[in-house]
Amino acid sequence: MDKLKIPVKLNCLFAPLQTDTAFVIGQLGQSLDGRIATETGHSKYISGKDGLLHLHRLRSLCDAVVVGVGTVIADDPQLNLRLCGGKNPVRIIIDPKGRVPLNAQALRDDGTKCIVVTTAYSKIRFDNHIERIDFSVENGSICPHKMIETLANKGFGKLLIEGGAYTISQFLSAGALDRLHITVSPLIIGSGKLGINLAPVNFLNEALRPETDFYKVGKDIIFDCAFKQG
Ligand SMILES: NC(=O)c1ccc[n+]([C@@H]2O[C@H](COP(=O)([O-])OP(=O)(O)OC[C@H]3O[C@@H](n4cnc5c(N)ncnc54)[C@H](OP(=O)(O)O)[C@@H]3O)[C@@H](O)[C@H]2O)c1
Repeated sequence: MDKLKIPVKLNCLFAPLQTDTAFVIGQLGQSLDGRIATETGHSKYISGKDGLLHLHRLRSLCDAVVVGVGTVIADDPQLNLRLCGGKNPVRIIIDPKGRVPLNAQALRDDGTKCIVVTTAYSKIRFDNHIERIDFSVENGSICPHKMIETLANKGFGKLLIEGGAYTISQFLSAGALDRLHITVSPLIIGSGKLGINLAPVNFLNEALRPETDFYKVGKDIIFDCAFKQG
């Protein structure tokens, strides 16, 4: 735990993640008006330095970090630990059609395992250090529960779903997230990509109402949302 240097005031935030049990957590860094990127896809960095440190601590506590191919194309993220100690998580890219650029940083051969979750539709050929797992598409998407089960069977039971909007929304609408950390930063973008898009509901009693706590880190506020599964 020392390598994470978690302040006492954040112990409760991280306690549910310091477990031997598998979990799936999503994280979004958003503006006051709920945006995770500008219209042009620019998102570095919405979160302040404490919010970014939080993201790296989450990476450190998970076996694998999952992003959609849209994030790889927009941000070319490294998905490793640079702001805290620990072991780099396995990098997983969801790319059903084979759109990922082969020179993406997330695909680099640096000793950290890399997996591409895809479908038979993708004709892309990867270097040997990249594992490819093919899934079928059901109702237009790969089932998050099937991904979680397959990855858990490979030893990656603690998953951080790091974005973007489509990927997190797919996991959330499938009821596949145990927790969601929404880090809200004090800026108003006024346009751009919203973090969460679910099917419309008619009445507020149909809205998701997770058990939620909040923590101030620097100028950011982390909302820790816990979803009841089953
Ligand atoms: N602020 C933050 O916390 C944060 C974090 C991450 C990213 N971002 C921003 O978010 C934006 C990207 O978000 P995005 O919503 O456009 O893209 P995304 O979620 O990164 O990727 C979406 C794509 O991934 C594939 N995909 C993901 N889940 C799938 C599933 N269950 N089944 C089938 N395919 C799946 C699909 O690829 P195909 O279209 O090829 O079928 C889908 O279009 C970027 O601007 C990035 O900067 C912000």
